[in-house]
Amino acid sequence: MTIAHFPSAKTLESFDFRFQPSADHKLVKELATARFISQAENVLILGPPGVGKTHLAIGLGRAAVEAGHTVLFVSATALIAHLSKAEGEGRLGEQLGFYAKPKLLVIDELGYLPFEKRSAHLFFQLVARRYERGSILLTTNQSVGQWGTVFGDDVLAAAILDRLLHHSHTLLIQGESYRLKQKSAGLMGRENPERAPA
Ligand SMILES: Nc1ncnc2c1ncn2[C@@H]1O[C@H](COP(=O)(O)OP(=O)(O)O)[C@@H](O)[C@H]1O
Ligand SMILES: [Mg+2]
Repeated sequence: MTIAHFPSAKTLESFDFRFQPSADHKLVKELATARFISQAENVLILGPPGVGKTHLAIGLGRAAVEAGHTVLFVSATALIAHLSKAEGEGRLGEQLGFYAKPKLLVIDELGYLPFEKRSAHLFFQLVARRYERGSILLTTNQSVGQWGTVFGDDVLAAAILDRLLHHSHTLLIQGESYRLKQKSAGLMGRENPERAPA
């Protein structure tokens, strides 16, 4: 768990699937068995801000560690910063090797900042290197149709998507932001927000 570098201690048990019915509980349970990692399959978690993408990514990452796999959690921004820095210092191969090593690489929050062309190319190299060898679990607030914009290049975006989606599971979350639910309940003077009616 320590070397996985999870940013907080979220678990699948603490995720309220009743609040977020669009999150496919059955699929999450299947992914929690970590079988997708043995098959080197990928997972994409898509949805707007606050719907629990990072929470589920951490929960699934923990489940993978418990199943005996090596896991590394990194934000998309930090990943690109590390790869760019390494490239500038002439040790890109080594840094790509570092990110290629864990059985599961969790890349959180792709799409909040568009990539420069060079960064998009570094991301492509990583995805190509892990393709059919190790799993990537990616969270993003952008639908795949927007990836051309995220990567600043339609051809590169298509090449990345092609490899990511070839053997993959997609979890699309479409509900309300959990953060805003808590916030609005607070503003209404309720400490413990009631669940939204089913
Ligand atoms: N269905 C849920 N049950 C319990 N906590 C949730 C749920 N959805 C979101 N949260 C909590 O709300 C906050 C925002 O969720 P987060 O995973 O960061 O959202 P996202 O990554 O989609 O922006 C976190 O503290 C998370 O633990
Ligand atoms: Mg997030």
